Amino acid sequence: MALRILCISGPNLQLLGTREPEIYGTETLAKIHARLKARGRELGARVETRQTNHEGQICDWLGGARGKCDGLLVNAGAYTHTSLAIFDALKAVAIPCVEVHLSNPEAREAYRRESVLAAACLGKVSGFGGESYLLALCGLVGWLARRTA
Ligand code: DQA
Repeated sequence: MALRILCISGPNLQLLGTREPEIYGTETLAKIHARLKARGRELGARVETRQTNHEGQICDWLGGARGKCDGLLVNAGAYTHTSLAIFDALKAVAIPCVEVHLSNPEAREAYRRESVLAAACLGKVSGFGGESYLLALCGLVGWLARRTA
């Protein structure tokens, strides 16, 4: 059976394509999602993609993922740096999660250097634009395959 991966993107990521292209590139989230699903098919994973601007919605989606998905990709946008609620949701569901960022937050403003979510994640991929999502998927699927081997 195909691995079930849920990819959640947070606030303002629906604006990718035109949002600060010098930082985030020009690829739209729809395009990234399409590439991610295609890569998933190559890797034997079914990838579901969602985006919201609302912190509580992310918690609802994470809470509902228990038993329904094998792995998570989460780019929580600015909530990465603030959200104890999303951290708690990740810990609560205990589904292997890779933190994703288009930019490299550690190389940016001081207030982006701390991730509240990192300690609840398996790993992190950042700094490769839309490709970060695909690299994270590859890493996650490989990790899940090794775990069940
Ligand atoms: C981001 C980095 C965050 O600091 C920022 O608030 C975002 C996007 C990224 O993908 O590079 O919204 O998560």
